Amino acid sequence: MADINSFTENSQIFVPSENFVSKANLNPNTYATLCKKANDDYLGFWGDLAKTYINWHRIFTQILDDSKKPFYKWFVDGSLNVSYNCLDRHLKTIPDKVAIIFEADDGASESVTYRELHKQVCKFANGLKSLGVKNGDRVIIYMPNSIEAIVAMQSCARIGAIHSVVFAGFSAHSLADRIIDARAQYLVTVDGFKRGGKVLAIKQDVDAAITILGTDSPIKNIIIQKVLDVACKIVPKFDVWWHDLVLNQSDICEPEWVLSSHPLFILYTSGSTGKPKGVEHSSAGYLLGAIITMLWVFDYKDSDCFWCTADVGWITGHTYVCYGPLALGATQVIFSGTPLYPDASSFWRIIQRHRVSVFYTAPTAIRSLIKAGGDLPLKFDLSSLRLLGSVGEPINPEAWKWYYTLVGKEHCPIVDTWWQTETGCHMLAPIPGVSGLKPGSCCAPLPGICAGIIDENGHNVGLGGSGYLVIKKPFPMQLRTIWGDNERYKTAYYPEEISGSKHYYVAGDSAHLDSDGYFWILGRIDDVLNVSGHRIGTAEIESALVSHKAVAEAAVVGKFHEIKGESLFAFVVCKNGFFPAKENLENLKEELCTWVATQIGAIAKPDDIRFVEGLPKTRSGKIMRRILRNIANGHQITQDISTLENPAIIELLKTDI
Ligand code: WTA
Repeated sequence: MADINSFTENSQIFVPSENFVSKANLNPNTYATLCKKANDDYLGFWGDLAKTYINWHRIFTQILDDSKKPFYKWFVDGSLNVSYNCLDRHLKTIPDKVAIIFEADDGASESVTYRELHKQVCKFANGLKSLGVKNGDRVIIYMPNSIEAIVAMQSCARIGAIHSVVFAGFSAHSLADRIIDARAQYLVTVDGFKRGGKVLAIKQDVDAAITILGTDSPIKNIIIQKVLDVACKIVPKFDVWWHDLVLNQSDICEPEWVLSSHPLFILYTSGSTGKPKGVEHSSAGYLLGAIITMLWVFDYKDSDCFWCTADVGWITGHTYVCYGPLALGATQVIFSGTPLYPDASSFWRIIQRHRVSVFYTAPTAIRSLIKAGGDLPLKFDLSSLRLLGSVGEPINPEAWKWYYTLVGKEHCPIVDTWWQTETGCHMLAPIPGVSGLKPGSCCAPLPGICAGIIDENGHNVGLGGSGYLVIKKPFPMQLRTIWGDNERYKTAYYPEEISGSKHYYVAGDSAHLDSDGYFWILGRIDDVLNVSGHRIGTAEIESALVSHKAVAEAAVVGKFHEIKGESLFAFVVCKNGFFPAKENLENLKEELCTWVATQIGAIAKPDDIRFVEGLPKTRSGKIMRRILRNIANGHQITQDISTLENPAIIELLKTDI
């Protein structure tokens, strides 16, 4: 708790315009009705929503089975198919509506309608079946944002296979770890792709992952979409071209009806140990979350052109690229490039070109755009915009105001959405036709989400207090477990010392409740960092560092960074005989950075490395990270250092040895 920052209140409130409220999906009256229903009849509330928004093959009779807390099953005996809900149900009503507009890195654009997308999914699903993929099998998808990546995900959902998308920036080692943990037998990838003007030939990384795994590899087939025509190794019968696989497949594929709790996907995310967690999501509860938040938070309308800039490799790209927009029959833009290539106007150009009305991005992108071209939005016609969103980390009030003024022209509400890979969809967020907005606050829990902030004794902190962010009742869209590790699920999300006998879901974030009852996220309570909106566990980077021959010990902490939010600062103790001479310091730093990039991926490269003689430890051998954080950030050391085993070390940590 001592780590929870002090908090200064920002009292400026931006109220929604009458015009916005009059057209909004939720207005103060309908919102109040929803909240009352959730309060009076919690299960009935969720049951009714599930009946309204999901097309069921067999309707459920039991809303929640909580007999094996904290392993919850929602809409227990219902059966459905998520791909049916995203595609087939629109075929009668809007077959020719554009589903996806794809914008490539170089500005080339293509689009598909619902009818075409449905055909592509059926063909690819049949192709997967022809290889032997069955209900429950795991399929790794290692692809950049593309129509095909969505086709691959939807195809898995169609046949009951469980996809696990691995961000295409992760290294061969990370990919290998995920293949093994998921025991995946199939992998879908591309020969290569372009991002930010650079060619990334990722089939090579797939081959390297298979080599790393050797005879342990469970992979039976690799399916490769030819994107760039770069040279790539093809092993006959093992490597299969996407275009060959779909060639003679039927464009009809009956959906596989699965139970509500059937795993839709596994998505790996960082935790406080070195091993990433395979977050397992259900089919029905997850889908419901994607749908209601599109409607409530994004105020989705049929006339919208929706654009979430996230990559399908992250949860945001699952919920607000692959599933939410399609479940509602939306037209959406997807983009495989970066905000700064070819220059800092790519976002604004795309919004103008496709008349985007709802735009969802991350604070780190906003900050980098302010820096690279703060007045560029003025040069484009952004008049189609009506709502803006933010996700991934707290948005600092300066960035919020720039976004509001220069992009939204002071008439677009900004929804600052707090959620996690584990929660599947937004949990705390403004309702745009209801909430007054405070820059930097994610406002309040959505109807039906019983979030609270508690102190060390499990009591509500009350207005003006700070503490642990928890969700007090099970909710349909929460993760079902950690793939293959029920025990870790319990200890990570229902830790005895905080969750207690009440079975509160513990988010791992601390939060503040201001005097008006607004929630403010303060940061993580564990050793997970948030770099450019990506979750990175310090333990993962530390274990990558110590696997290098020169490194004896390492500790990684977050350092404030203007654009990324946090940057990675590594304190490294070398093994005897490996401490570099002064003139070789920089070389070894380079080498370690490259090493981490090959072990995990470029996103985990330390920004700073400092070689030190030892790490500050308590007498019981625990590294005192707070001291390291203060040193990395150039702050005074205020804490008591008398418990340190080696207090003299503090001075030595301030520069390289
Ligand atoms: C942080 C991303 C403040 C938080 C969807 C959370 C946020 C972690 C916000 C989850 C926000 C996400 N304001 N902090 N609006 N959104 N976070 O799993 O620390 O990649 O626990 O999911 O990001 O990151 P994840």
